[in-house]
Amino acid sequence: MQIATARMSRCSLVNAGNAIKLGRSGPRRRRLMLLMWIMLSGSLCLMVDSQMKIPPETVQQWAVSFGKEMAALSNRYSGAKLLQKKYKDVEGVVKIEEVNGEELVKTFAEEMEEMLGRKMKSVKRLAEAAEDADLGHEYNETLEFDYFNSLLINTVDEEGNPTPLGGEFLLEKNEHFNKLPVNTWHSNIQVPTNVYNRDPDILNGVYMSEALNDVFIDNFQKDPTLTWQYFGSATGFFRLYPGIQWIPDENGVVTFDCRNRN
Ligand SMILES: *[C@@H]1O[C@H](CO)[C@@H](O)[C@H](O)[C@H]1NC(C)=O
Repeated sequence: MQIATARMSRCSLVNAGNAIKLGRSGPRRRRLMLLMWIMLSGSLCLMVDSQMKIPPETVQQWAVSFGKEMAALSNRYSGAKLLQKKYKDVEGVVKIEEVNGEELVKTFAEEMEEMLGRKMKSVKRLAEAAEDADLGHEYNETLEFDYFNSLLINTVDEEGNPTPLGGEFLLEKNEHFNKLPVNTWHSNIQVPTNVYNRDPDILNGVYMSEALNDVFIDNFQKDPTLTWQYFGSATGFFRLYPGIQWIPDENGVVTFDCRNRN
């Protein structure tokens, strides 16, 4: 399953798995390249710049692991094994009817199209909101602005005071999001350790992308099958909806950088 759109632009896309990525390069600020994804499920998200040469073995590996994942998923959710077993129990009683395969495929295709169409609409709404917000935002070199940093939320310093860029951020376990504690009213921001989290570029980008919060919520209400919605900026921050607590690695380092595929 794969969809991709590109508006106006040099920002290209290839993707594996089921992420959607959207890019554009604004006439005003070239460095503000925006990437966006909406995940159809909580599985892998890979971004690849098309300029990059991907070794065929890597692609092969993705294909194999994606195939395995799909097979496991369909085994798990289609109940095929259970059906086979049940069928044995009732074999004598049931009557078999032929189905119109073509008709079935058509219906399935229509449903897929509708489902993907909804995702596309969600991405478009996000892209438009991001563009509007960007246009309406005047870059401010000295901007001061506190945001919820997903690494720092709900943490305190040695004196027990909330960490700057942290603060109280409500999280509730949610079945729909891999049973992770999430906040479906607020997105929050992830910044890799090697990027200064108060860099003017980051602050301006985070500030202007606050407008996406309402769109995330609205998208989720319009299409409850949506899971993670992301907004990644070329400046290095990652706005993630729903908001979560980011767990650093064992060295306390956050290596995930939405500009790379890792
Ligand atoms: C830039 O941000 C600072 C701090 O938030 C504020 O005092 C100043 O008025 C802003 N400048 C402009 C031009 O908006």
